[in-house]
Amino acid sequence: MSDLQHLEDEILAAITGAADLTALEDVRVGALGKKGRVSALMKDLGQMEPEDRKAFGQAVNGLKQRVSDALTARKDALQEAEMAVRLQAEQADVTLPVREGPIGAGRIHPITQVTEEVTEIFADMGFSIAEGPDIETDENNFTALNIPPEHPARQTQDSFYFAEKADGSRPLLRTHTSPVQIRTMRAVAPPLRIIVPGRVYRRDSDQTHTPMFHQVEGLVVDEETHFGHLKWVLEEFCKSYFEVDGVKMRYRASHFPFTEPSMEVDIGYAKVGDEIRIGEGDEWMEILGCGMVHPNVLRNVDLDPDRYQGFAFGVGLDRLAMLKYGMPDLRDFFANDLRWLRHYGFSTLDVPTLARGLSS
Ligand code: PHE
Repeated sequence: MSDLQHLEDEILAAITGAADLTALEDVRVGALGKKGRVSALMKDLGQMEPEDRKAFGQAVNGLKQRVSDALTARKDALQEAEMAVRLQAEQADVTLPVREGPIGAGRIHPITQVTEEVTEIFADMGFSIAEGPDIETDENNFTALNIPPEHPARQTQDSFYFAEKADGSRPLLRTHTSPVQIRTMRAVAPPLRIIVPGRVYRRDSDQTHTPMFHQVEGLVVDEETHFGHLKWVLEEFCKSYFEVDGVKMRYRASHFPFTEPSMEVDIGYAKVGDEIRIGEGDEWMEILGCGMVHPNVLRNVDLDPDRYQGFAFGVGLDRLAMLKYGMPDLRDFFANDLRWLRHYGFSTLDVPTLARGLSS
């Protein structure tokens, strides 16, 4: 009996001494496993006298039970300790602000934002969106727009031409969005009300010019369209875009081969410190060119100028973005500087709508 007691003390001491779950499992196998020391005792039973066998069996079973209980208790204790350590290590302060995820951290480029704002305004006036390719034919970019061969805009210092093709034609990067007027009038019968946002290219680079920039073309063709409609559309557009109740606009006679009469439009602003205030002040900034569609252009797309008239305008989107959001240098728009993008970019979830306020 004292042997059993000794064995039990030894095993219980080992259980208490087990520092972790692996060590405890070793103790369990050594005691209660198939080849364990307690299991070995059961083998002795066979050789015993029946009267001894009963008492010994009971004693071994009692020992087994106590060892098993001790193992369970020690296991619970070790697991609890392990959990306490983990909880301590993985402590979370739920009062901390939520970290910005990838969607929240990303920024919409001001050009994309401004394109969406402009689109929203014209869509509300019933315009639909048309698009054309960046690489254009001479016909669409110039000839059909009534730009004669000797016009300076055709000179290679203004336009990016590709190498001459076998048929003698030379594709070019479109110098304005106006070729989409031609494409649309050739594809769709009037009445037409479209805007065309897109990239355009000219050989130019300084603080307010980059070789690639953005325009929005507008075109309306119908049977009763006049300059008053054009002025109303532009004025409504400027008020909505700059989010002001009134704007000062100045129409200056100008010349574009594809419109007659042609105007350049300036918007009035005041400079207060570094800030530009649209709608007040005595400074003028040119923002767009416009006019009534030239009869020759209508003829070039097989529309009868005695039946149809229209107006067109071309707005510089980059200029609009600079004016509204106060970026001083256009070249920064395309420098891919993350600090600039983080500062001037827009949250991905701020989709511009007229109802909510375009830029809120
Ligand atoms: N295409 C002209 C430009 O790029 C702008 C314009 C468009 C003028 C439509 C009149 C009508 O300067």
